[in-house]
Formats: sequence, C-alpha cells, structure tokens
Amino acid sequence: MPQHQVTVTRRLPAPIEAQLAQRYRAQLNKDDAALSPDALGAALRNADALVVTVTDRIDAAMLQDCRAGIIANYGVGLDHVDLAAAARAGVVVTNTPGALTEATAELAFTLMLMAARRAGEGERLVRSGDWTGWAPTQLVGRSLDGATLGIVGMGRIGRATAARAARGCGMKVLYWSRSAVAEGVMGDVAVERVASLDELLRRADVVSLHTPSTPETQHLIDARRLALLQPHAILINTARGSVVDEAALVDALASGRLMAAGLDVYEREPKVHPGLLQLEQVVLLPHLGSATETARVAMGNTVLANLEAFFAGKTPPDRVSS
Ligand code: DGY
Repeated sequence: MPQHQVTVTRRLPAPIEAQLAQRYRAQLNKDDAALSPDALGAALRNADALVVTVTDRIDAAMLQDCRAGIIANYGVGLDHVDLAAAARAGVVVTNTPGALTEATAELAFTLMLMAARRAGEGERLVRSGDWTGWAPTQLVGRSLDGATLGIVGMGRIGRATAARAARGCGMKVLYWSRSAVAEGVMGDVAVERVASLDELLRRADVVSLHTPSTPETQHLIDARRLALLQPHAILINTARGSVVDEAALVDALASGRLMAAGLDVYEREPKVHPGLLQLEQVVLLPHLGSATETARVAMGNTVLANLEAFFAGKTPPDRVSS
C-alpha cells in the first residue's frame, strides 16, 4: 500500500497519472476543474505533496499550517507560487526546467512566422467564406529571411528560439540578458549581446520575450519601450503576460507604431484585453507553449523524479530557491 498522499490539481497525461496512482495514494482530478483557493489550502493541509500547475495560485495564507512538504510544479514558471512564503513554511518547491524548452521555442517561432506572414488573418479570411481568390496585393506580409531577431532573456528557451530563427530563416540574433551566453553553447549560431534592452528594441525586426515573471520584469515592455520599436517590428510573447503592458501594446498596434504581435500569454489569463481581440494583426494563442505530447510527458516525468527524490529524503533535482 503506497504510503504518501499526493494531490494533483489538474489532469495530467495518462502515463503520468498511471505512475502517480501506482506510486502514491494519489488524488487525481479526473474532471480537470481548477481547484478553488479553499480546496488548494485544504490539499496543502491534508496531503504530503501537491502537484500544481500555472493555473493554481498558492499564497502565503495557504502555506500556513500545511502538511505538504513539497509543491511540485508541473511547468517551469513559478510566478503563481509565493516562493518566499513556501521557504518560510519549510515547503520545498520544484519545477520542470528543460522539459518544455523545445516545445516553447517552436511555438515562439510559429508565432513569428504567423505574425510576419499574416497567417491568422489569412486563416480567418478562408474560414469566413469571403475569400475571392489570389490577388497580387492580398495579405502581403514580411519575410523573416535575414531579419534581425532580438531575444529578451537568453535562458534555455531564448537560446532554443534563437537557434530555430537563425537556422530556419537565417535571422541575425541579438540578445539582452543578465548573463552572457557561454562560449560554444550556441554551436554554429552567431549571437550578439547588446548592452541595453533599449538598444535591442531599436535594432530588432522581431523581438521575442523569454524572461520569467518577477517584480523586475513586470511591464518590462511598457509604452516607452514599445515606442523604441521600429514601425515594421513584431513583438512575440511566450513568456508571461505580465512582462508586457497590454494596454500600451494595444495602443501601439492600433496606431500603427508596431506592425504586429504574436501572443501566447496574457496579463489576466484566461481574459484577453478586448483591444487585442479587435486587432487583425495580432496572433492570439491560448498558452500553448508546452503543449506537445513530448513536452507534457517530459514535464510529468520531471515531477515524478522530483517527488521520488523528496520522499527518499534527497534534494529534488529541480528544487528552486526563493
Ligand atoms: C510553464 O511551464 O511555465 C508554462 O507556462 C506552462 O506550461
């Protein structure tokens, strides 16, 4: 009879749920309805471990008097967990770095191509039944071939996105990041580190955001910085909605100061700024960055490895600090 009780807040891929059920007294969420704050608090009080996702907000009050020793996040971003409060409560927090790098980079590249080539508009035109056939001036977009990509945040996903853009479209890559990319890490892909974010915004044709959500990155891309972008520039966000001031982005796009945007994340998910919904030149996806079978299973296996280490009295491989 398994010893430890593990509560899982959302449905996970079937092989992962099967493993959880085999190894633990697992409380799975078969109907996949997000848990209320009260239910999350109760789970923290009653289970030995809680497996959460980006849709579960874990705050300081919930972490008081909790029994759970570990919160294993199914995902990499941890802005939904109060890490300082978890540390005070002695609760270990883990995430899944590495498991979703390729999937998220692929989605950032998808958004770049869709926004540059106006693929969302084209798809809507065909579905509307109003398409009257090929025309020389119809939905003419921009080529990414040889264009300059600016990566904001050159971690795993930023680097993987840069590699796709350079190899796939021959894009030149600039990046702005706290630390420089170590020699040899990018293989045959040439990258240039710029001195400031403002410089990157002025020079890039496409800007792709890959910073975590922290107090420092809140509205990192605000009205002033959006105004630095070239009028033909495209902004891509697969990181977190909070990094961009959405209202300022709507203004920049609506007034033609920016060509297009490709967004997978939003400030108030699942709500999307109504202004964005009105703009044809914005590609809007529903937080699909890690949504490949490979990534979602790898994320689950990472959660399993972290739980296993924790219950064996070891430091979980993906323990994060506050
Ligand atoms: C993450 O991992 O942070 C994604 O946003 C959800 O998969």
